[in-house]
Amino acid sequence: MKVVFASGNTGKVREVSQMLAPLHWQVVPQSQLFDEAAAETGLTFVENALIKARFACAKTGLPAIADDSGLEVAALGGAPGIHSARFAGADATDSSNIDRLLAALQAVPPDQRQASFYCAMVFLRHAEDPTPVIALGRWNGEILQARRGEHGFGYDPIFYVPSEGCTAAELPPERKYQLSHRAQALRSLVTQIQDLQQQGLLRH
Ligand code: IMP
Repeated sequence: MKVVFASGNTGKVREVSQMLAPLHWQVVPQSQLFDEAAAETGLTFVENALIKARFACAKTGLPAIADDSGLEVAALGGAPGIHSARFAGADATDSSNIDRLLAALQAVPPDQRQASFYCAMVFLRHAEDPTPVIALGRWNGEILQARRGEHGFGYDPIFYVPSEGCTAAELPPERKYQLSHRAQALRSLVTQIQDLQQQGLLRH
């Protein structure tokens, strides 16, 4: 079966294709099929993932998978949340987002800097699918006071993972790929889809 993945990010497309290998689906990045981007008007990661998947289904007539992810910081009431990519403004870069977050947390002591990366990953059979498969992943950590490490992207250099004793940017990429919010959500998505297939509810 052919499935659209509602992202043009090549790293993500590779991760998703690898994880979905057991399903024997052909995962096609939406950038190969159309150019427009869905307006992410939802207030939660789940809503935005559904909006992106529904848009890709409507554009292509194919089933679609979409994800939405970001960082939530307890001391900031869950911010930057769904605004993670643009926390420092419309022209934000990974570096300016980190600077803004470090500034916002300047007065917050080390024992109150808990945070998590969160990922919603959804699968829709078609644009009007009333029973989307919804998979969630959460990766817990703490926000450091300065950057450490060169790998990864986004907030990885300031996201300390206590169980590993280093930041996400210091982890070998293969290790991050096992632990991350996205990996957790993808594993759950595959399990749920396999269950549906076994029950004869997904005939592909
Ligand atoms: P998106 O789901 O690709 O739109 O990601 C939104 C934003 O969340 C990214 O631009 C990053 O700032 C942040 N983010 C999501 N996943 C990660 C991650 O694995 N590491 C670091 N930052 C992340």
